[in-house]
Amino acid sequence: METRVLPFTDETVAEAARLILVGESVAVPTETVYGLAADATNAEAVARIYKAKGRPGFNPLIVHVPDLVAAQSIGQFEDSALTLAERHWPGPLTLVVPLRDDARIASIVTAGLPTIGLRVPAHPAMQALLIATGRPLAAPSANSSGSISPTRAEHVMKSLGGRIPLIIDDGATERGLESTIVAATGGPLRLLRPGPIDVKAAFDAGGRIEAPGQLASHYAPTKPLRLNASSAAAEEFLIGFGDIGGDASLSPSGNLVEAAASLFDLLHQADASGKRRIAVAPVPETDLGAAINDRLRRAAA
Ligand code: TXA
Ligand code: MG
Repeated sequence: METRVLPFTDETVAEAARLILVGESVAVPTETVYGLAADATNAEAVARIYKAKGRPGFNPLIVHVPDLVAAQSIGQFEDSALTLAERHWPGPLTLVVPLRDDARIASIVTAGLPTIGLRVPAHPAMQALLIATGRPLAAPSANSSGSISPTRAEHVMKSLGGRIPLIIDDGATERGLESTIVAATGGPLRLLRPGPIDVKAAFDAGGRIEAPGQLASHYAPTKPLRLNASSAAAEEFLIGFGDIGGDASLSPSGNLVEAAASLFDLLHQADASGKRRIAVAPVPETDLGAAINDRLRRAAA
């Protein structure tokens, strides 16, 4: 694939929005680092982010929205979260809050978790893309797995050139550091990742914040899970792949993008089924299969 690098203009944003609405991912500057953005309501588009990054596992991704009202249509904001949002948005703060039941976010975005990381970015390019697409945009940092976060279009090109269609170039990012992440999911606020905003200092006046905090970052089914199953044993809900059909299939055609996109939905479905156990057909270790297998092994552990 040819990767175009275009300056941040109205025409470039229109082209980026067109690509995102057909399910591609596009690199876009934010005030922190360059992000690799895709439509957060489109599971296959989000799976392609992982494919481009060559990430060996799925992490929950930050979803970018144009304003607090849009954020509140996706997540539930308790008072302390609202205070932080009103004080620091738009800006380099991500809030992890409970996901609303009626939010139309693909489950691969939250990696199956009941919480979601939300951010209202200040950068005009990301803001313009949010408005032009009218979609919430999932965006991890635009680097390949294992390399450092990109603060210039050249960094993105070096890391993801040939794997994404477009990079919006607006020079060096202002902050050069990923956003501060705070979890507001009941109880004291928790600082999950320090960043440009010193939330602790800002918040010491009123509320409580614990640092550094930890939040479960893996969804695990409640039922035992068996890997590399070629057929279902008694009491097993079989998640198929390719030739192995099962009760539901990750991808009947053996397509790894489709499999990644449906993984968390099927794990939830298996967990909610009448069967006491879950089995999963073998998934090849190639390409996105490595990330799928990593997540399945964690779920089985
Ligand atoms: O500045 C930034 O935050 C950049 C720009 C592009 O916005 N994005 C970024 O994304 O750094 P990423 O994917 O590289 O880091 C996201 C972090 C991960 O460490 C992930 O574990 C955490 O956010 N995260 C996201 N949702 C979460 C959730 N529901 N619970 C716990 N952690 C979450
Ligand atoms: Mg990153």
